[in-house]
Amino acid sequence: MPRRSLRRRVEEAEAILRKTGKPAPEVAVVLGSGLGPVADAVRDPVAVPFTDLPCLPAPTVPGHAGRVLLGRLAERDAVVFQGRVHLYEGHPHAQVIVPVVLARRLGARLLIVTNAAGSVRPDLRPGSFVLLTDHIDLAEADPTGAHDGLLDGPKFTPLNACYAPAWRARARAAAARLGLAVREGVYAMMRGPAYETPAEIRMLRLLGADVVGMSTVPEVIAARNLGLDVLGITTVTNLAAGVEGATPSHEEVAQIARDAGPQLARWLEATLAAESGQ
Ligand code: HPA
Repeated sequence: MPRRSLRRRVEEAEAILRKTGKPAPEVAVVLGSGLGPVADAVRDPVAVPFTDLPCLPAPTVPGHAGRVLLGRLAERDAVVFQGRVHLYEGHPHAQVIVPVVLARRLGARLLIVTNAAGSVRPDLRPGSFVLLTDHIDLAEADPTGAHDGLLDGPKFTPLNACYAPAWRARARAAAARLGLAVREGVYAMMRGPAYETPAEIRMLRLLGADVVGMSTVPEVIAARNLGLDVLGITTVTNLAAGVEGATPSHEEVAQIARDAGPQLARWLEATLAAESGQ
């Protein structure tokens, strides 16, 4: 028997998540490498493993738990993907955007996409946060050309102001209230999974990138196609290859991300609370 289409399996997963009885989420959060502890901030959670959903593969990367949590974040109904699907794992674009499609089908209006990334500039130190203002796709990550019927937006998606200025302003205000120093910057996506060469990092700096990672762009483009607002947050986990002589390692990335998790959770909660006037 031929395997059910991805679209069909997304519909089945939607039904499974609706059966939890949780209210429709207003906000979706995708957690990057090592940022799983942010999930601890979800109140009254129901957790569904990716392996219980027919459309999500078990993560292959340490630091990605592979669970969907439905619960509340700062008094808003939320769906949190603890673990993500990457192009570098060999998954097709359509598979990588499934969490965003699922979130939209469940009712989410805002996607908060987080990631761990390397800094291409020495003044953005490991452990700091960068609010994304824009991105550069060097991984041919645009999913809108081949999406197995998962996207229903325009054939040619405009990507100006991908990262909602209003949500960035709320995030900046929340950071100020918490006394958290955050910067803004441009994210460059490389496909990986090998880290970049020092020459590539020098190139990225010349191109106008501030941080570099291996995710985020497919999800953001899918979200914009589907009409979701997007807030993008990078946790700087390391200096990128060659910056002050650095050699990136996954252990360092996972450790720094884990350490930043509680602070990131507080910031996200404060950002979401700001909108509801709390
Ligand atoms: N390069 C690419 N991806 C990353 C890095 C990096 O230095 N750090 C965390 N994710």
